[in-house]
Amino acid sequence: QTFFKPIHQTEPPSPTKRHIKITVIGTGNVGMAIAQTILTQDLADELALVDAKPDKLRGEMLDLQHAAAFLPRTKIVASVDYDVTAGSDLCIVTAGARQNPGESRLSLLHRNVALFRNIIQPLAQHSPDSILMIVSNPVDILTYVAWKISGFPSNRVIGSGTNLDSSRFRFLIADHLDVNAQDVQAYIVGEHGDSSVALWSSISVGGVPVLSFLEKQQIAYEKETLEKIHKTVIESAYEVIRLKGYTSWAIGYSVANLARSVLRNQRRIHPVSVLAKGFYGIDGGEVFLSLPAQLGRGGVLGVTNVHLTEEEEQQLRDSAKTLLEVQNQLGL
Ligand code: NAD
Ligand code: LAC
Repeated sequence: QTFFKPIHQTEPPSPTKRHIKITVIGTGNVGMAIAQTILTQDLADELALVDAKPDKLRGEMLDLQHAAAFLPRTKIVASVDYDVTAGSDLCIVTAGARQNPGESRLSLLHRNVALFRNIIQPLAQHSPDSILMIVSNPVDILTYVAWKISGFPSNRVIGSGTNLDSSRFRFLIADHLDVNAQDVQAYIVGEHGDSSVALWSSISVGGVPVLSFLEKQQIAYEKETLEKIHKTVIESAYEVIRLKGYTSWAIGYSVANLARSVLRNQRRIHPVSVLAKGFYGIDGGEVFLSLPAQLGRGGVLGVTNVHLTEEEEQQLRDSAKTLLEVQNQLGL
């Protein structure tokens, strides 16, 4: 078995292409957090913004442009018309309804599928070689919808998925062990949201596998604490939404982190929403959910063969089943 299952569907764009253009659809809390992180991290030569509300859109564009003196040079353009997105390398979609306090992500489905019918087609038409990165919720099902509507090969349609949940997980484990979150390797996979799956068997800190370390040292396996941490991850967004109305900063950094891996061809591994059929015994239909995937200039380059316990594989298949049940009602 190879470390990666490579996906060879399309060639990455020519390495001589220099001008990097990113489009962000939706200039609400999430779109603007992503836009500003992209600007501060110098990821694009051009940033195009699109929203359905022209005044809000122009206001956001001007406000960002006014920071030009403090930022790496990026041309910022905005319009309600998709012409402005033409020739993008990466299109990030954040438009749509968000959850009210206590509401689940899946409850947004029908409202946001209706919007996607008007968004994905012109986006794909103006940037036929781009990579689509979906953030709007429910992100896994909307990534499937974007894949279907765009007609793009699956390696060029990615959902931000559990890259964010995994960051929350790493933060909480780091906090518990009093170490730096960047030294914690830990993945949440599956649905971004309520049926997500924590991969306990692959957690390591500074290269030390945590579970086997605890077992070898005969330190009581803190199953309860670990399960509480996963529960807290699942509840994180609900808590933030209850407290401030929406989530924005962490998803902004999470998506900029993915944009960097793609546009700079970093070949890094991220838990993101990909076409999961055929991996880890998921065979019930075409479903997108998060798996540890390698990202680069061609989009999804491969899916990592991490070792999952029987229980983890079963949870992943259950997560796929949950998503497929909802997805099948769409009739796409
Ligand atoms: P928001 O209400 O602040 O912004 C949504 C924006 O979409 C608004 O500016 C609105 O005008 C725009 N919009 C609506 N219809 C449009 C259309 N047809 N074309 C273009 N723009 C349109 O909401 P938000 O807080 O920014 O959240 C946006 C989405 O991101 C929600 O679905 C939310 O659940 C999701 N989200 C996902 C994650 C994740 O991890 N995947 C994290 C946070 C939020
Ligand atoms: C999140 C959104 C709401 O922050 O999906 O997890």
